[in-house]
Amino acid sequence: MTNNTNFKIKKAIFPVAGMGTRFLPATKASPKEMLPIVDKPLIQYAVEEAVAAGITELVFITGRNKRSIEDHFDKAYELETELEIRNKHKLLQLTQDIIPPNVSCLYIRQPEALGLGHAVLCAQPAVGDEPFAVILADDLMDSEPGALMQMVKLYEQQATSILGVEDVPREATGSYGIVETRLADDGVQRVCSIVEKPHPDVAPSTLAVVGRYILTPRIFDKLKKVQPGAGGEIQLTDGIAALMKDECVLAMPLAGTRYDCGSKLGYLKATVNFGLKHPETRQAFSKHLAEIEL
Ligand code: G1P
Repeated sequence: MTNNTNFKIKKAIFPVAGMGTRFLPATKASPKEMLPIVDKPLIQYAVEEAVAAGITELVFITGRNKRSIEDHFDKAYELETELEIRNKHKLLQLTQDIIPPNVSCLYIRQPEALGLGHAVLCAQPAVGDEPFAVILADDLMDSEPGALMQMVKLYEQQATSILGVEDVPREATGSYGIVETRLADDGVQRVCSIVEKPHPDVAPSTLAVVGRYILTPRIFDKLKKVQPGAGGEIQLTDGIAALMKDECVLAMPLAGTRYDCGSKLGYLKATVNFGLKHPETRQAFSKHLAEIEL
């Protein structure tokens, strides 16, 4: 394996075109990525994690009903003027500081929801011939350093594709991409097989891919050839399975807590735990929880 530090990971793809059916009716007219955890939408947590990892180009793969994501990362003239007139400087700063000035956003429309692999392929014109990250905003990661930062550090040593993984209960394998790994001499885990949403009876392990990927641009050629797989969709997992034939793919267990905010229970857990940490709510909220436990 080569030590290639020439390629910094500068670009991150955020596939946000999904319909969010598990959160209907909340997601009928607004994107699931805009669901807030306390006071920040899921997509903002994902973007902050990317920016903390050194990403400077954010590529959103959007679809219908996703305008509010673009608006969220854009300048809000009326709101800013209003906050200024009312001397609400702290709120003004909060609104203006969502994205640092050196970070740019690009929006690409995925015309049909053909799957995660297809969404990633839609980003090829923006990504070009560089390694890049993929972040699924409904997997909220709470860790210091951030999940993507942990992966970028490993990429700087290994210069190959990396999947963020977590051990899950066997009964949950049908919800995730599942990998089988073997420990290499240098202590990293090499992926030997990957399969999308296997039934618990046949899952090769309980190591699940969480929504964090660093991929080399070779994945695009693989995705172009992928046939519809699980759920009739072009799966990123199948593209990665093809990529593994040409290059080493690593699995990295991520430090920290992951909340699967694509499920109602995961979303509620995230809300409670972030509510217990937020400076404005932590005291009163923990008191409230203690009371309802009585
Ligand atoms: C996607 C991927 C799956 C991965 C999961 C992580 O599934 O296809 O391999 O484990 O994200 O959240 P989805 O949640 O979009 O069904």
